[in-house]
Amino acid sequence: MKMAAGRRKIAVIGAGNVGATCAFVLAQKNLGDVVLLDIHEGFARGKALDMSQNANVLNYDGAITGTSSYEDIAGADVVVVTSGFPRQPGMTREDLIGKNADIVTQVGTGIKEHAPESVVIVVTNPLDLMTYHMQKVTGFPAERVIGQAGVLDSARMAHFIALEIGCAEEDVSPMVLGGHGDTMVPLPRYTTVGGIPITQLMDQDTIAAISARTAGGGGEIVKLLERGSAFYAPGSAAAIMAESVLNDRKRLLPASCLLTGQYGLDDVYIGVPCIIGARGVERMFELELTEEELSSLQGSGEFYKSQLSDLLGY
Ligand code: NAI
Ligand code: 2OP
Repeated sequence: MKMAAGRRKIAVIGAGNVGATCAFVLAQKNLGDVVLLDIHEGFARGKALDMSQNANVLNYDGAITGTSSYEDIAGADVVVVTSGFPRQPGMTREDLIGKNADIVTQVGTGIKEHAPESVVIVVTNPLDLMTYHMQKVTGFPAERVIGQAGVLDSARMAHFIALEIGCAEEDVSPMVLGGHGDTMVPLPRYTTVGGIPITQLMDQDTIAAISARTAGGGGEIVKLLERGSAFYAPGSAAAIMAESVLNDRKRLLPASCLLTGQYGLDDVYIGVPCIIGARGVERMFELELTEEELSSLQGSGEFYKSQLSDLLGY
């Protein structure tokens, strides 16, 4: 297997739908060697072999290997955590908390021991709670434990806007903050198309409908799939965050970060705009919000704070 010295290493924990998609995007971007770790070793090895056999077709270079052993993630620069149960129809993300918290404890312990210098990108739901739990389990500085939600939620909003306006997807710059759940906070005032705020491009009812569809975006897909949840956009969103770390791109992205007083919230992970570079979260931004926007964001933060204490004992 071609595992070159000096190449970057990315571990993806969980070789299921989101993990495999993320690994596939990372491989195509030639970002380094990818290690897929799953509790089911054959599952991880099979997916890695399948992706490796695609290297000739799609012309990528990095080694892709599968494992169930944490020793194989040693030296990883970035670890993307996707292990955990997905939602089924009728479930909220918060319904997953018991089972997935145990998985995050197990995974976080492995990361702490074998990849102590890594930047960890958490995807497992309920996202903001699991990211908080991961930071506690690893004991890593908070800037090195980040949650993926905002890139996905914003991309969903961008898609609905592009459909409505009939414009190119890449010209939409969306902004969705708050928790990855019913309390997420789409921010139309900070969402632009080619620099023009969408508040100048569509009426209030249309914006409200797009915001509501964005907040329910994950549930809409769960309902359609009838088993499991979305994975193409979520896996790609995590890969884009990993790329920003690996290439020190300093992308300004919405991501779940540990707040320490920003927006009047403390000791809770919630989605805010931040710069993601080699050291993880390098800077957070406090936007000027209206009273209503701030109250929605604070409501989202307070909801997750109460879940942290009621359901996880923090
Ligand atoms: P999946 O069921 O396809 O894959 C999960 C994988 O985790 C399985 O292969 C399973 O064997 C593995 N796994 C379970 N326990 C493990 C352990 N202790 N160690 C290592 N691997 C373990 O699920 P899918 O669709 O990939 O979703 C994964 C998670 O990501 C779910 O919690 C889902 O809710 C969440 N998610 C989060 C999103 C976000 O935006 N933050 C978006 C989409 C999904
Ligand atoms: C999503 O938003 C279920 O969190 C997952 O698609």
